[in-house]
Amino acid sequence: MPSSEVVKQLEYLFKPEAVAVIGASRKPKKIGYEIVRNLLEYEYQGKIYPVNPKAEEILGLKCYKSILDVPGRVDLAVISVPAKLVPAVLKECGEKGVKNVAVISSGFGEIGNVELEKEIVDIARKYGMRLLGPNIFGLVYTPTRLNASFGPRDVLPGNIAFLSQSGALGIALMGWTILEGIGLSAVVSLGNKADIDDADLLEYFNADPNTRVILIYMEGIKDGRRFMDIAKKVSKNKPIIVIKAGRSEKGAKAVASHTGSLAGSDVIYSVAFRQSGVLRAISFEEAFDWARALSKLPPPKGENAIILTNGGGVGVLATDACEEYDVKLLDMPEDLMEAFRKYMPPFGSPKNPVDLTGQASEEAYRGAFEEALRDPRVHSVILLYCETIITDPVLLADVIIDAYHNAKEKKPVVVNFVGGEASDKAMRKLEREGIPTYPTPERAVSALAAVYRWARYSGHI
Ligand code: ACO
Repeated sequence: MPSSEVVKQLEYLFKPEAVAVIGASRKPKKIGYEIVRNLLEYEYQGKIYPVNPKAEEILGLKCYKSILDVPGRVDLAVISVPAKLVPAVLKECGEKGVKNVAVISSGFGEIGNVELEKEIVDIARKYGMRLLGPNIFGLVYTPTRLNASFGPRDVLPGNIAFLSQSGALGIALMGWTILEGIGLSAVVSLGNKADIDDADLLEYFNADPNTRVILIYMEGIKDGRRFMDIAKKVSKNKPIIVIKAGRSEKGAKAVASHTGSLAGSDVIYSVAFRQSGVLRAISFEEAFDWARALSKLPPPKGENAIILTNGGGVGVLATDACEEYDVKLLDMPEDLMEAFRKYMPPFGSPKNPVDLTGQASEEAYRGAFEEALRDPRVHSVILLYCETIITDPVLLADVIIDAYHNAKEKKPVVVNFVGGEASDKAMRKLEREGIPTYPTPERAVSALAAVYRWARYSGHI
């Protein structure tokens, strides 16, 4: 299917005018009930049609015996009936003219029922429907308030699209992103990828104005060549982060018994990802660290980073991390050192790291930070702070936010505060204001390094 066609059809998956839930249940805690509830309570604005031959009404919504009885057009049908009933239900969807189906049901290729899986794909193709799944927890698209999943409800809006081949991990991370305050544009459970796969969704989210970063948890890909070709193109426009599980020999075996995917040679994956501009993360913590930076920050205009700190130790740790992750530190020109000296006592250091010392006040930070944001030779800032009684972390956060928003030129800035509760509160405030924060200097540098790797690949620098 040409990419414009894929995008056009998947528009109805994420922005449907009406959603039918086939296998909508009357009983709380059953999957078919909770999906209808999520749709209602996440305040999806389109029409919701529960379908169940035995029910009159579910959660106050009129229920239909078959999708063929639904009066209006249906763009998305979420199917939650036992696997053996799926082919019949799908045929009715096809006759109704449904554009996309999301098959929640398990019991297909993942347990060896390859024929049944082929049958449902054939039915979908026959009627021109795209099929998500089977064996999925559903999908969420925050701009349209669509939560057609049985995962957590209150997904925070943002601009990271998160695609997961693993169901349980995907659901768990939905909850975790809410706790961490990470905003998402979409969550998509890929399941067996019998039809819609990572490459289709890359095409879609590449064109989606509500998405800035695409993050994938992947165990295997069926058509590696196609994925690479599309990823190569998409990475020039938007960063793609992949957590590819099954790196070790035993991990690959675990993958085979989990999703039935062939993990393949890990070296081949690494090379393929690198060639197609995909940023490969080792853990979900790392992946979301990078995604937060990439979704919030502008690309840098050059290679020179600067470290601002009130603590020598964290400055050194960040310097080591810069070396390790390939972030280049600005070789400080004499006049810039002179400028930074104004904001530190005589025993401070204006070299890079710029050490404002433990007695640095909020205003000293402001002066130095504004200097860094102003000077065209500085392309990015790593701002570190160790909690002291001299500087209030929350007031410091306010100063950083103010300087950042008032800067004439936007530069990537990553922040690490090390301290107690007040530092944590301050970091959350910074995060809400669009400045990515990290609990360690290494994680802050790793995130900035991801921003650099993408900027280099996409030709920004
Ligand atoms: N059309 C519409 N509704 C129907 C039809 C039909 N043809 N036939 C039956 N129904 C109704 C049933 O009456 C029932 O409603 P009720 O509860 O009000 O009686 C409802 O549809 C559901 O049917 P059940 O037979 O009760 O099926 P159940 O809900 O137990 O299971 C399910 C269906 C959830 C799809 C199950 O078969 C399954 O596959 N579960 C696994 C799902 C899963 O884990 N997916 C992967 C997620 S990822 C992860 O790991 C978290």
